[in-house]
Amino acid sequence: MSKTESLDIGIYGLPAPKVAVGQSSRGRMTYAQIVAKDNEPLNPILQPQTEPFPPQVPITFDRYLDKRFVDLEVEHIWNKHWQIACREEDIPNIGDRVSYDIVDQSYVIVRSGPEEFKAFYNTCRHRGRRLCDSKGSGTHIRCPFHAWTWNLDGSLEWVPSEEDFPHVKKRAYGLEQVQVDRWGGNVFINPDPKAKPLSEALGILPDVFADCPLDERYTAQRLRKKIRCNWKLAQEAFMEAYHTLETHWDHMPFFGTSYGQYGEYDDGESHLNWLTTASMVPDHWVFDKISPDDSINHFCTAFGFPFPEKGTIHNFTDARKYIAKCRAEMIRLSTGRDFSDKTTAYLIDYIKAFMFPNHHPWWGEGLPWWYRFTPYEDDPGLCIMEVRILLPTPLNGPTPPSAAPLDIDFDERCADFPALGTAGKLVDQDISNLVAIQKGLKSAAKKNRYMTLAQYQESNIQHFHRVYNKLLGL
Ligand code: FES
Ligand SMILES: [Fe+2]
Repeated sequence: MSKTESLDIGIYGLPAPKVAVGQSSRGRMTYAQIVAKDNEPLNPILQPQTEPFPPQVPITFDRYLDKRFVDLEVEHIWNKHWQIACREEDIPNIGDRVSYDIVDQSYVIVRSGPEEFKAFYNTCRHRGRRLCDSKGSGTHIRCPFHAWTWNLDGSLEWVPSEEDFPHVKKRAYGLEQVQVDRWGGNVFINPDPKAKPLSEALGILPDVFADCPLDERYTAQRLRKKIRCNWKLAQEAFMEAYHTLETHWDHMPFFGTSYGQYGEYDDGESHLNWLTTASMVPDHWVFDKISPDDSINHFCTAFGFPFPEKGTIHNFTDARKYIAKCRAEMIRLSTGRDFSDKTTAYLIDYIKAFMFPNHHPWWGEGLPWWYRFTPYEDDPGLCIMEVRILLPTPLNGPTPPSAAPLDIDFDERCADFPALGTAGKLVDQDISNLVAIQKGLKSAAKKNRYMTLAQYQESNIQHFHRVYNKLLGL
């Protein structure tokens, strides 16, 4: 594609990582050692990867800056790959619809039956107006320009002054459908009619999430933050915990990011990876300064949990189990669901999966979040990060309505929106770097315009770019 893609940039092409699998660097605890002390069964996602990670691939800066990559991504990713369009609860009633915009493409996703969804090109067959500007509802899909009207199954229902359109045969003027399918309460689309089914793109994800059913959750909070950086750059900040030392240092007393465990799964159709971080164990950098009591006090203060009785916490395993018990009780009170048999890791650790190209579902209750990163229009320097908090639905009560998105503009701070709580500050810490990275990439010396990644702690980013390079033919 570009000259820089083919440059010999030194570090690449080296053999697979030499660090022990599951270990960030020599001499530290591993996540596996921490959870082993819990003495509880482990979901496969929590097992350290035993396969070596493949060699690194070149990641040059032009893919974050150059409009030509936006076009290549439309051609090879957005027009070809399964991608999340919305959640089912965004369109709870028959006739509800939302638009899903990706670069300059747009689709309208419609609930056409109680358990039936359809996705159409969001373009009127008359003179091309968008049919759905963001969301809507009704028994028909009616164009706001001249009122051409379609049924929810996409068949053309009505053309005003029909006698003036003798050349319009109703059967030939249905809305053009694209493939749609669902998993875990998420609605996915794929514009490629020849694409393999969604199940192949999901790979082992449904097995991994079998004990964390995402379709038994609802969107309790939702924000869409516009950011002045490329969409890939934004999601890469959430694919490694290496930045905690400098960016989220205030979380280190109860957030063991340097013991982070990374894994990946790739069968050629499904491209998944995950990042697992221990909670309630101080980070390597502050470990000898923080006692189990300190750690628990920080956590209870930050998240509003009750403090344990004095003398009951003797080590970090006790601290983990105490917080896990508090969380299970909190969930029981708010939903009626009994999570007391869930593992400590499930209840408190931070376990984020990734499904290519842009979806990040979190497993467990430590951070029950959902991320999606999309380009903003066709500008390589702008994107939207969407975050949802997905809480378990009440067992016996009605499910609260899905939260409306809170739109936060480019230069607004998330921390200024009190509804986001501590999450707002955390996201701001990440975004401040992202904007500065996008600027830094542009001003780098020409010969240094490539990423230099850690072999283990940034292996999820490498995995993304191995897939990206392959799909784009780089
Ligand atoms: S453009 Fe849609 S009805 Fe005319
Ligand atoms: Fe971060």
